[in-house]
Amino acid sequence: MKSHIIILANLLFFTFSNTAYSGDINAGEARYSQNCGNCHGPAGMGLASYPKIAGKEVAYLKDRLNTYRAGTKIGPNSSLMIMMAMPLTDDEIANLAAYLNAQTK
Ligand code: HEC
Repeated sequence: MKSHIIILANLLFFTFSNTAYSGDINAGEARYSQNCGNCHGPAGMGLASYPKIAGKEVAYLKDRLNTYRAGTKIGPNSSLMIMMAMPLTDDEIANLAAYLNAQTK
């Protein structure tokens, strides 16, 4: 009986640990403050000719960052963003997307 409970617990653990990491807003804010804000402004609100990225859908933000990280151009100034996205890890992208999505001011 005990072993059944352990097997069930393991099954539950593996089921949930395999679901996509949903991102940590605080870690995303810390990463954002390292350099993203230099161009995208405070909390991703946009600055001069740099796009506003606050409040966008998580899936959209992740897709953009993954695309740049892969070295693929999206707009006329993608080469800047490709350089910025290259060093990002999957977790950092998830954290940044969670943080930016939560900025709604
Ligand atoms: C040197 C200035 C600069 C920095 C620093 C920078 N970006 Fe960007 N970002 C841009 C520019 C310019 C674009 C538009 C690029 C294009 O034409 O494809 C952009 C586009 C984006 C987009 C897509 C916007 C859209 O709706 O298409 C996202 C998301 C983004 N940046 C996130 C970030 C994150 C997160 C960081 C920090 C890791 C960051 N950026 C750092 C200049 C910058």
